[in-house]
Amino acid sequence: MRAVDLIRKKRNGGELSGPEISFLVEGNIKGQIPDYQLAAFLMAVYANGMSPEETIALTGAMVSSGKKLDLGSVQGVKVDKHSTGGVGDKTQIILAPLMAAMGLKVPSIAGRGLGHTGGTIDKLSSIPGFRTDLGVEELMECLRASGFFINGQTEEINPADKKIYAMRDATATVESLPLIAASIMSKKLSEGLDALVLDVKTGSGALTKDLEEAKGLASLMVRIGESMGVRTAALVTDMDAPLGRAVGNALELKECISALKGSFAPDLMEVTMALAAWMLHLADAVSEETRPQRLGESLLKRYKDEIWDYIEHGDAFAKLLECVDAQHGNADAVLNPSLLPTASHIKPVLSPWNGYITKMDAFAVGHASMLLGAGRGRMDEDVDPAAGIIIGKKPGDAVSAETPFATLHTNDPSKLKEAEEVFLSGIEISGREPSKKKLIHDVILPG
Ligand code: URA
Repeated sequence: MRAVDLIRKKRNGGELSGPEISFLVEGNIKGQIPDYQLAAFLMAVYANGMSPEETIALTGAMVSSGKKLDLGSVQGVKVDKHSTGGVGDKTQIILAPLMAAMGLKVPSIAGRGLGHTGGTIDKLSSIPGFRTDLGVEELMECLRASGFFINGQTEEINPADKKIYAMRDATATVESLPLIAASIMSKKLSEGLDALVLDVKTGSGALTKDLEEAKGLASLMVRIGESMGVRTAALVTDMDAPLGRAVGNALELKECISALKGSFAPDLMEVTMALAAWMLHLADAVSEETRPQRLGESLLKRYKDEIWDYIEHGDAFAKLLECVDAQHGNADAVLNPSLLPTASHIKPVLSPWNGYITKMDAFAVGHASMLLGAGRGRMDEDVDPAAGIIIGKKPGDAVSAETPFATLHTNDPSKLKEAEEVFLSGIEISGREPSKKKLIHDVILPG
């Protein structure tokens, strides 16, 4: 086999076999196939796409490039949730302790934020001392002790994704559904899961802005998960507006702490509860060896009542404290969030008019938050844990002229003016109360 022949085949619209795809990925990771040939292959994939079978083979080759967590010795069903990313999307920090409190095991490898989107690792890193660079042995200890961990990507697990992602960034091949699906699923399938719930976002702040494209990505990822023996379902959820009230790392962490104590913004509650119900349902399907069903209202309500019990009685919050301790963080800062980083400058944003908020563009809010210091433009940049935005009024709420409806938080006051302009550019206010927008657009189950 020669790499050049496989590149030509893909360039001409042909379909590669599993061994051919492994030859390219494995060869590159072992240093036998140069980066320029893998980059040319990625461009051919970008241009011509991949069949589901090729995408499954690519995902498998990426998983095989490193260690897979071996969770055979850990009791309980292993379930994770993955979101394709958005603005104010903090559900993982609520779901992982909640599901662990309910008896599931959640081994979660998460990412850092880039551009207008936030990352779970940055949010947790606002806890003083919290480590997200633990090795495989320590992760296993956390999982046994607290029932979950949330760690960053390690060198040992899936090195191919790290390499290919950097190459895609440099070769304008990021926006390819099969490459996105293989990248996300190879990370998740390295976690040794029994079940996976995907939260595929759609709307202005999402990776896939178009609803049909988001559904296509969701279906492809569900198919990949199931083909590798992991029970997988996807929710397609809205990211036209930020989720919840906080955007920015420590601010979002504080919102998660409040949620785990029972105080949720309505939209955050709806999406979190739906994801939690699906995690429990897939775990039941694994234990009972059944196929997941479309959840009817009564079953959904039963799951939600059970979930609420674990929040109300403090079990989920207690799990977060256990994990923070196990990952070397200062649990006092979670018990007393005033110890978390706070910004030196807080500026209210006044509503220009009376009326109802009809639009709060997630991309604009994420961009404004990034300007305040909460996000990074390049992967090697630092973020300011204290920076971000608190949204007092959300789409559908009434606002009064010259009255604050959000606050900007930063340690760099020179950024306030531009951030405020960007934030306001995403806001529309009208005299007519808008109808409530759907938050959960679809549920994709194995076909
Ligand atoms: N997230 C990933 O992990 N990979 C992609 O390609 C896109 C989003």
